[in-house]
Amino acid sequence: MSASPGAPESQAVRCFFALWPPAGAVEALGRHAASLARELGGRRTRNESIHLTLAFLGDVSPAALARLSEVPPDILVAPFELVVDRLGAWNHNGIGWAAPSAIPGPLIRLQRRLSRWLAQEGFELDARSFRPHVTLVRRATGRKEECGFEPVHWPVTEFVLVRSDRDAAGPVYRIVSRTALPPERTENDT
Ligand code: 2AM
Repeated sequence: MSASPGAPESQAVRCFFALWPPAGAVEALGRHAASLARELGGRRTRNESIHLTLAFLGDVSPAALARLSEVPPDILVAPFELVVDRLGAWNHNGIGWAAPSAIPGPLIRLQRRLSRWLAQEGFELDARSFRPHVTLVRRATGRKEECGFEPVHWPVTEFVLVRSDRDAAGPVYRIVSRTALPPERTENDT
């Protein structure tokens, strides 16, 4: 996927915006990653890589990466809680996932406003509709009926810009910048 205008290939950085879980949620989701990988085959996501993507940018230039770290305050929402309580697998892309059965309004608003800002800034985004999920297994070969599990509570107080590199064991993610959600924010619906 193309992204920032004029990113020389040699310096391009693959990046995305995401929610990064707090330690308690990582632990619980990591246990599900391990059991889902046993059940489905494929490779589990490492605990330190567990996240929920808000917007995937692909390759951008270092200058664009700096610009992306300056998120305008008017796109922010108040902190909210995500309750992750469903497990499933998509056959078309071999992903085993965990997801919230109820998608909080602030999550939808944040993702929508972020995407709108990114489009205004000239970034090309995935046109597919937002399906919030946490990838727990890749290259899954087995099938799975979607099911519930004991809810994992994930307080969301910030979102992050992440760069993605690779090592022998798969993608390595590094947080480039963090944007705190302002508790005093009053919500409107846009
Ligand atoms: P996935 O876990 O469902 O594959 C880093 O690759 C993150 O960006 C992953 O969470 C990935 O979602 C997400 N992503 C969204 N669109 C992508 C794309 N076109 N290519 C790679 N990753 C994408």
